[in-house]
Amino acid sequence: MSQVTEYSEKVMDHFMHPRNVGEIENADGVGTVGNAVCGDIMRMYLDIDDEGVIRDAKFKTFGCGAAVATSSMATELVRDRTIAEAMQVTNKAVAEALDGLPKVKIHCSLLAEQAIHAALWDYSQKTGVTIEGLKPPVNDINETKEYYEMEEN
Ligand code: FES
Repeated sequence: MSQVTEYSEKVMDHFMHPRNVGEIENADGVGTVGNAVCGDIMRMYLDIDDEGVIRDAKFKTFGCGAAVATSSMATELVRDRTIAEAMQVTNKAVAEALDGLPKVKIHCSLLAEQAIHAALWDYSQKTGVTIEGLKPPVNDINETKEYYEMEEN
């Protein structure tokens, strides 16, 4: 994707009209991730049925516009998808679905990816279901190597 220097219409739309804001009571998986550098925090709630399909996804984000937009898009991308499909919703996939993010805001999409992973991890811990490729969640995205790769590029 070419270098984006300003917010796309999709980012603005998801920031101004975020989808799936809120909480899911007794969610099957809940995950919270932050970024100590900017202080932003994202919490993701997932409802997962017995077939392993994500029937509902909601979020609460205390953060920048890009963090709100990426959380909103992330919930849209994982809804009605299998867990394996949700694992493909990487920060890159979220940013691409939003028609890109300015370079300084790419890390916000990592918060969305990691919040999904944290919620899936919680589900896996509660149910004993093993999720291929899922690593224990971080509290802070600064603990991931992806964050450093992003900052270097
Ligand atoms: Fe912190 Fe966007 S600036 S997540």
